[in-house]
Amino acid sequence: MAGECPLHKSVLLEQALEDLAPRDGGRYLDGTLGLGGHARAILESAPGSVLCGLDRDGEALEIARERLASFGERAKLFHLPFSRYEEALDALGWDEIDGVLLDLGVSSMQLDSPDRGFSFRTDGPLDMRMDRLDGAPGARELVNRGTFDELKKILTEYGEEPLAGKIARRIIEVRSKEPVNTTARLAEIIRLSYPPEWRRSARNHPATRAFQALRMAVNDEAGELVKFLGSIFERLAVGGRAVIISFHSLEDRFVKRAMKKWEKGECQSVAGEPGTRSCFKARLFHKKPVMASDDEKSENPRARSAKLRACEKIKDEVI
Ligand SMILES: C[S@@+](CC[C@H](N)C(=O)[O-])C[C@H]1O[C@@H](n2cnc3c(N)ncnc32)[C@H](O)[C@@H]1O
Repeated sequence: MAGECPLHKSVLLEQALEDLAPRDGGRYLDGTLGLGGHARAILESAPGSVLCGLDRDGEALEIARERLASFGERAKLFHLPFSRYEEALDALGWDEIDGVLLDLGVSSMQLDSPDRGFSFRTDGPLDMRMDRLDGAPGARELVNRGTFDELKKILTEYGEEPLAGKIARRIIEVRSKEPVNTTARLAEIIRLSYPPEWRRSARNHPATRAFQALRMAVNDEAGELVKFLGSIFERLAVGGRAVIISFHSLEDRFVKRAMKKWEKGECQSVAGEPGTRSCFKARLFHKKPVMASDDEKSENPRARSAKLRACEKIKDEVI
């Protein structure tokens, strides 16, 4: 099966394929290639299709390149953040695409590599950058240099962390004596910010929310998504589809808002035909986001918070 990869199991694969409905000869954009599980399924399901795949993580991209090598020229891969997808489409000379997929966040491979610093479960350098080559600061800089207000805001907005202030204060207190350089050290600081009875009763490790929040801040994940959503609908062909899988309530809200806006539509005057306007709208496939089945959730814990939204671009002629 296409999504089966020992390093990462693709989430909501069947639903994503059903909604994207890849067709022969179609052009598809996968903005979050990861290990290429969804991409491979797209290319397999529509033999004449071509896929432009992006990832900002060069290491993931190289693995995807190997996994997709058998598709030859049908898989065109770029080391780019998806906010810059237009550079890839322009390089390929693709004005329009027939479908786009985003499967946000990090892959299991990234989470499970201690040296990437994404996880509080294993000790490693406090890094969390998806792209280690672009020179942007990692979590270590953020944690050791951020002000109280900055840290509290990140933990509140991206982590919905109830103890954001307490954790931010403790980080600042600890780092005044010695810099916080490792994931284990940070996880311990967060754990100790929680009252013992909370720690005992919590379903997840107390550092879960804070680590996700810091990762989102380090990689400007919300900014990436907002920028992408601001222009992608225009690049979809009529009949083209957008499928977006998110793992965070804030991201799902951005996707929902964008699709609702597309559903209302945008109209433009038709050149050379006075009085005629073309309107492009979205037909939404699901009233509510699709979640993984209980079976998928038990096989793949990453699927627990996944939410999929999808739509198709349609055209109305208005006189
Ligand atoms: C959940 S994984 C995708 C897994 C993939 N769909 C599969 O089935 O193998 C998310 C991937 O998207 C990448 N990513 C996250 N945000 C990105 C962005 N803004 N631009 C490009 N890649 C991004 C991550 O580096 C990671 O490899």
